[in-house]
Parts: sequence; C-alpha cells; structure tokens
Amino acid sequence: MAKIKHETHFICTSCGNSQPRWMGKCPACHAWNSLIEEPRVVFKGGKNPLQTSNEPSHAMRITEINTKESPRHQVGIKEFDRVLGGGLVFGSVILLGGEPGIGKSTLLLTNAFHVAKSGLKVLYVSAEESISQIKMTAQRLSALQDNLYLMAETNLSLVLLEIDRLKPQVLILDSVQTIYAPELDSISGSVSQIREVTAQLVHRAKSENMTTFLVGHVTKEGNIAGPRLLEHMVDTVLYFESTRTGPYRFLRAHKNRFGSTNEIGIFEMRQNGLEEVLNPSEFFLAERPLGKPGSAVAAAIEGTRSMLVEVQALCIPSFFGNPRRTTVGIDQTRCAILAAVLEKHAELVLSGQDLFVNVAGGTNLFEPASDLPVALAIASSLMNRPVNTSLVCFGEIGLSGELRAVHRSDARLIEAERLGFKKAIIPKSNKAQLLNPLHIEFLFASTVEEAIQLALEEL
Ligand code: TYD
Ligand code: MG
Repeated sequence: MAKIKHETHFICTSCGNSQPRWMGKCPACHAWNSLIEEPRVVFKGGKNPLQTSNEPSHAMRITEINTKESPRHQVGIKEFDRVLGGGLVFGSVILLGGEPGIGKSTLLLTNAFHVAKSGLKVLYVSAEESISQIKMTAQRLSALQDNLYLMAETNLSLVLLEIDRLKPQVLILDSVQTIYAPELDSISGSVSQIREVTAQLVHRAKSENMTTFLVGHVTKEGNIAGPRLLEHMVDTVLYFESTRTGPYRFLRAHKNRFGSTNEIGIFEMRQNGLEEVLNPSEFFLAERPLGKPGSAVAAAIEGTRSMLVEVQALCIPSFFGNPRRTTVGIDQTRCAILAAVLEKHAELVLSGQDLFVNVAGGTNLFEPASDLPVALAIASSLMNRPVNTSLVCFGEIGLSGELRAVHRSDARLIEAERLGFKKAIIPKSNKAQLLNPLHIEFLFASTVEEAIQLALEEL
C-alpha cells in the first residue's frame, strides 16, 4: 500500500520565508525561534490563483505612462480621512490592527455607512459575526444604508464570487485571521493562510480598483498577528489603540503609501458608537492641574495638525546610586539627555533625583520641539515652582543648553491663541519666521536657562 506522505515545511512568522526543516534562526531575516511547521501549499489544478492572464508585461518609459490619478474619496469622518492622508485611494489595501474589543468593527461599520451614504457600493464581509448581529450593531450606530451589503462568510472563494457579482467599490473584511482560502490545507489564521488570503485580496483590489479594508488581530506584544510580510503586502497599516483606561481611542498610521504616518485620529467610544474628537487640545488639557509644579504645556505638531499637550514631570530623591529616568510618551534617552543638559547649563542638580516624565492623555511627543516643555516641567518639579498657567512653549534644546528654532511656529501659536493662552516662550532664532500678529505675548529665549527664568512663577 502506498504510504501517504503529508508534506510540510517550516515558515518564518516574521518574514514568511520557507525552509524544508526546522531551524533556530531564520536564515533570511535572522529572527530567532520564528519558524513554525505548516502543510506545504499545493495549488489545486496546478495554477497559481494570482496569475490571471498569460500575457507578459512590458517595461515602459516613465514619461509615457498615463496616470489616471483618481481623486481621493472623502469618507466623511474627518479623523479617519486625515489618518488615511486625505481620504480613500481607490484600489488601496488598508490593514487595521487593534486589540480585541477596542472598536475595530465599530469603526469600519461606521466608515462603511458613511461611504455607502456618499453613493459608493460597500460590501462588509464578517468572518466573525452573523449578519443579524452586525445589523443589530448597525442599528445602534444608526448605520443603515441601502448601498451597504452584509455577508457572513469564512470561505474566501465564496467572497470573491460575491465580489464578482456585486462589484463593490469598497470591501471590508473582518478579519483576515478568520477567513480561509480553500485551496490551502492549513487552518485559517496560519501563516500561509493569512499570506494567501491577503495576496488574493491585494490582487483583486488592484485589478478592480476596489478599496479594501482588512481587520487584523494583534498578538500579545501588540503587533498584527501573522507574518511581518503582511505589512509589506498592503498599502497602509493602521493601528487602533486606546489609553489604558477611558473611552478615548487613537487611530495611527504605522505605514502609509499615500500619506504621512504622523497623523493621528482621536475618537471617543460612546453608547451609540464612535464620536470624533475634533478638538484634541481641549481633550489633552481638560484635566490639567493649574498652579501645580511639574506641568508645562507644549505646542506640538502631529502630522498636519497643531495641538496643545500637557507634559508632566516628577522629581523625587533617589535611593539608588543610579537615578532612574522613567518616561511615558517621550523618548527615554531624550529625557536623560535633557536632564544632563539641565544639570550642566541650568544648574539644576538632577543627578540625585529619580525622574518621571509623562505626556498626559496617552499620546506621544517625539518631535524635538517638545524638548523645552519637558525641560520646563522637570525644572518646575525640581524647584517646586509652577509654570505660568497661561503659558505655552516649544523649542529644541542643544547639548550646550541653546534653544534652537523649530518648524511651523505660526501654526503652534495660532492653536495656543485659540485656546486662550496669553504667553509663549519661543526660541529667539524663530523670531524672523513669526509673521502673523497674534494676541499672545512672545517671550524670546536663546538658552534653556533663560526660558526657565521666564516660565516659572515666583514663590
Ligand atoms: P468592536 O467594534 O466589536 O471591537 P473589535 O472589533 O475591535 O473587537 O467593539 C466592541 C466594544 O465596543 C464593546 O466592548 C462594546 C463597545 N461599543 C460601545 O461602547 N458602543 C457602541 O456603540 C458599540 C458598537 C460598541
Ligand atoms: Mg470585531
């Protein structure tokens, strides 16, 4: 009797590279312990499903290529459009990752409703919930629209057949880990299934100019489950995150072929769906303690938008020989550098102090312009003197304690004025760039020491 041989191979979960036997380290991407065993992919009928035509393609001169630049389609949810880089690009594939229960399905269902309302045909395929469950959620979100089609299906071939019949302009698939391509023997959610499902959908999206949203589950570490390759295959990778507590959700672009990755969209999860937070400054400053030491307001730029964010610092005497620098929302190395600069050039003795820095509201400040607010918050906590409550600041700090110019100072100051701030500490070298007359008093400083003297209230 012929022996039945189950052919398997080992796939790297990090890069998708395949090996005939197990290895501790992937020879392609050098990741350790990332190879897992999976059945070998055999395409039934001997044809690669990705290959739709037998015609060879030819190279063309770049000047002779006709671009049919399609205008972006505005979804109608401002926060979402901004993160996408100004609206939907037809034919693009967007992967949305996030922890369970964070609101991925809610976000995409709301998105589907808005797109359908604007006249496009949307197909929402759920491989996790039944259509009546989705309809119930949609009713709660008041997201009922004739142009929005629902389908509960886990078999990719049936979904593709339905796409052929319906010809939707936007497809939403929830989620890429629970759908399977029947050509493959492996179970849904395995590396080869995720890779295959995504490849088929990317091909379909490009050939039919259909915008495709894929929901991706995340691992314990917060990365999208499946091969890293998945992120290379799609055009845009978005992450939906929350602060540890509270109803606020942040939508960030991790990769975007059609826009900036600095943009952030802010939403609030309410009883009847996600609500946009259009005024992030007000949200970030809502619980700011007034007149307390250790708090400074940064006028920051996040993508194309300026917003005010509170930076908090706490200095306490250290019981260890090596004082700690603990940060949330800013780079720890940057914080250590700033502490050293303050010690050397502003005569603040921080070497015996444990230092904790936090950006309130759960956002991140990684631009150099946030150096000055961090330094002022630290100085304020150490000297136990509050920063003037109607003051904002920005500026990069050099290793000699000098304050350096930053970009888009106007946009920062306009936002500060809108929120009623009266004073702003600005690097002296930014003076020439300030064009707009504003109702804000400008306090120019050329060193961090000067800035501290201007900012801190007298005791
Ligand atoms: P869901 O979109 O199902 O999350 P995911 O798809 O990321 O797993 O959202 C689930 C959570 O959102 C659930 O805990 C309930 C909450 N929620 C609301 O608070 N209001 C709403 O209107 C909806 C639809 C969900
Ligand atoms: Mg879901």
